[in-house]
Amino acid sequence: MTDTDWMPDPFDTARAGRLASRIGQIAPFHVMEFVKQATRLEQAGHDVIHMSIGEPDFTAPAAVVNAAASALRRGLTQYTPALGIAPLRDAIAMHYQRMYGIDVEPARIVVTAGASAALLLACAALVDRDDEVLMPDPTYPCNRHFVTAFEGRAVLVPSDATQRFQLSAAHVQQHWGANTRGVLLASPSNPTGTSIDAGELQRIVDTVRARAGFAIVDEIYQGLTYDATPVSALSLHGAHDHVVTVNSFSKYFSMTGWRLGWLVVPPHWVPAFEKLAQNLFICASALAQHAALACFEPASLEIYEQRRLEFKRRRDFLVPALRELGFGIPVLPDGAFYIYANCHGIAHQAASDSAALASVMLQEAKVSMVPGLDFGMHAPHDYLRISYATSYERLQQAIARLHTLFHAS
Ligand SMILES: Cc1ncc(COP(=O)(O)O)c(C=O)c1O
Repeated sequence: MTDTDWMPDPFDTARAGRLASRIGQIAPFHVMEFVKQATRLEQAGHDVIHMSIGEPDFTAPAAVVNAAASALRRGLTQYTPALGIAPLRDAIAMHYQRMYGIDVEPARIVVTAGASAALLLACAALVDRDDEVLMPDPTYPCNRHFVTAFEGRAVLVPSDATQRFQLSAAHVQQHWGANTRGVLLASPSNPTGTSIDAGELQRIVDTVRARAGFAIVDEIYQGLTYDATPVSALSLHGAHDHVVTVNSFSKYFSMTGWRLGWLVVPPHWVPAFEKLAQNLFICASALAQHAALACFEPASLEIYEQRRLEFKRRRDFLVPALRELGFGIPVLPDGAFYIYANCHGIAHQAASDSAALASVMLQEAKVSMVPGLDFGMHAPHDYLRISYATSYERLQQAIARLHTLFHAS
């Protein structure tokens, strides 16, 4: 008997008990399954280059680790206010002022357990049963499920390279129906690494406001931008009353496993978000909140800036190298650490389908990139999401291995 033999088959409802029907609407997260395969190969002794994970290869700077240790020693481990500790909300507000010249009242900041909890709270506050929320296809897969979890309907709008893989105001007007309540965007985006330009974002917000809707704008990759001056939705006209921005310490601040993020919400919605946060989470991790204060110290900010430049260096190496291998990169990704690459031009018999190609690359070259499957329905079989959250040297090795793979077949 194996240690799983005692477990009932979860699909045998008579034996396993009945799960809620929404479970059937949540698609499996293929990235995770793919990462598991790569990990199994690694455990079997293979040298796998991971270009599949959406997680910085950097960890929190020493000042943050020291602040966590100090908070632990001082016993700062009890529940905090549901909206977060006041010094952290102040520090986040100051960060917006210093980095982006935006005034945000600390009272509008809701500290959460990562952007994930932020998105969950936003959907809990704004989405009713059968409400429709527009989002681009491709998009971050969990976004559909946050909406579904509250019995709303995610409406995926095919968005190709001509729109930087993002929604446009014209899209929003065209797809806004009787049940549409708002839009959910991410800029820069996962999986494409592309941002929405400031003018278009303003037009989207205007379109949403004219319909008394909401815009949830996920800015989790804020800070990781490489070309133009980054724009926050918070700086837009009208952002004060209809826009909720989502943010996190996971990416720019390299704190994925600490589970810390935040929202900026319109002032009149703060009590609703507070009530939900109290009930659903009580608070975000106290330890992570105290540690995160050190993210805003000048020495930490300097480290983050060096890391941003390192990500840019990797992107600037990888984009031409992938194009040379035959990948199509129709729009230069300007942020995050992803490239959404079309695999039609690859000289390999498996290249007609991104899932087959990803599998061959993993098995034969031990290079792990994820197929577009998770990110939408529009053209997932044409695309791979390539993450450069791994060292420059490993990226060079990956390109060399793929060169050998494609030219040997
Ligand atoms: C666009 C986007 N939003 C939200 C998340 C969730 O991040 P967090 O670790 O802050 O919960 C991710 C994680 O990859 C993401 O890419």
